[in-house]
Amino acid sequence: MNPKLREHWTLDSDFIFLNHGSFGAVPSEVQAYRSSLCKEMEAQPVRFLARELPAVLDENRAALAAFVGCAQSDLALVPNATYGINSVLGSYPLSPGDRLLVTDHEYNACRNALDAVAQDKGAAVDVVELPLAPSSAEEVVDLVLDAVRAETKLALVDHITSGSALLLPAKEIIEGLHGKGVHVLIDGAHGPGHVPLNMEALGADFYTGNCHKWMGTPRGCAFLFVRPEHQDWLKPAVVSHGRNAPLVDGRTRFQEEFEWGGTTDPTPWMCIKVAIDVMGSMVAGGWPEIMERNRALAREVRDFLATAFSGQDGVSDLLLPSMVSFRLPDGKSEDLHLKLVDAGFEVPVMSWPPNISPVSTVPGGESGRVLRVSCQLYNDFSDYERLMEVLPSLVDAPL
Ligand SMILES: Cc1ncc(COP(=O)(O)O)c(C=O)c1O
Repeated sequence: MNPKLREHWTLDSDFIFLNHGSFGAVPSEVQAYRSSLCKEMEAQPVRFLARELPAVLDENRAALAAFVGCAQSDLALVPNATYGINSVLGSYPLSPGDRLLVTDHEYNACRNALDAVAQDKGAAVDVVELPLAPSSAEEVVDLVLDAVRAETKLALVDHITSGSALLLPAKEIIEGLHGKGVHVLIDGAHGPGHVPLNMEALGADFYTGNCHKWMGTPRGCAFLFVRPEHQDWLKPAVVSHGRNAPLVDGRTRFQEEFEWGGTTDPTPWMCIKVAIDVMGSMVAGGWPEIMERNRALAREVRDFLATAFSGQDGVSDLLLPSMVSFRLPDGKSEDLHLKLVDAGFEVPVMSWPPNISPVSTVPGGESGRVLRVSCQLYNDFSDYERLMEVLPSLVDAPL
C-alpha cells in the first residue's frame, strides 16, 4: 500500500486490495460529500428531488462532458454501463438476418444483453476470438475487421476488457468498422478516469462509461454518450416521464428520457464534479498523473509477474491499462479466490475464456482461469510482491 495516498480511502487495513476494477473504491472526501447530500435530501425530499435536482444534474453533466471530451448535450447520466448497453442494444433497429459483432473478451453481463436482443430480433451474433495477450494493436484491429460481413450492423467492443485487462485500440477499431458501414457501441465500463477520453475524437456512435470504477464516484453513476444523429431513435431501457415531459433549460429529449427512470437515489450523479476535483487534487499532476502513474505501476507489475508465470510475457505497453491479467494453471477459480481472501488479498480469479459456464469446461469440473490485479493510487509495488509470496502455495499446480 502507498501509505500517504491510501489515507484518501477507507479501505480495510487488514486486506491488500488489488481489485479496484470490479466496483471501484470511493475516496473518503467523496463519501462525506455524498452523506451531506443524503442529509439534505432527507430534510426536504420534494424540494431536493423535484425542484433542485435538474439544475444540479446539469452542472455535474457539464463537468463530466468536459472530462470526457464532448458536448454536454450528447451525454446522458445512467446508473451503470450495463444500463447504457441494454438501452442501445434494446432500441437499435435490427431485422431478422442482421448480424451483430462482439469479441470473446466481452464482459458476460453485456454479452448476455447482446445475445438476448439477437434472439428476440432474429439477428445473428459473430464472435471474434482475440488472444489473451495480442502481439499488437494491428492484430486486434485486423481480427475485428475480418469478422465483418455484409449483414453486420452493429459491433459491441470493449474499451478496456474485464478478465483479460486489455486496452483495445478503440479509435482504430471504430474507424475501420465505420469504413465498413458498421455502427459501434463501446463498452467503456473501465474507461473514465482510467485512460484519457475524448468522445469527439474517438468517434464511437455510442459509448457508455462508468464513473463509479476509476473516477471515484459512489456506485450507480455512469454515462451514455450518443452521437447526435442517433439521439432521436435511441430509447432508455426504462420508459418514464421523460417521454413527454416539457423540455426546459436546454435539456434535450434524449437527456430527459434517460435521466428520470422512476424514483431512485440520484446522489451518486450529484458527486461527479466533486469526485473529479477530489481525485484530481490527490497528486500534483492531477488526472493525467493519476492515469500515467497507475499505468506505469501496471507495467512494473506485468514485468514482475512475467518472471513468475511461466511462458507468459504479458501484453505490450500500448495494450496495457492499469490492470494486469495472467493465465493461471487450470483449476477452480472460486476456490483460489476464496483462498486468497483467507490470506488477506482481494483479487479476482476469473474463468477463461469468459462467457462460458463457470461450472465446467474440461473434464473434472475444472476450467481455465486468469488472475487480474488492479493498480490504483493507494497501491504500490510491495502489494504485488506480497501477493507473489503467497500465490504459489495457493495455486494447486506449478506456476
Ligand atoms: C468490461 C465491462 N463491461 C461492463 C461492466 C458492467 O459494469 P456495471 O456493473 O457497472 O454495469 C463491467 C463491470 O465490471 C465490465 O468490466
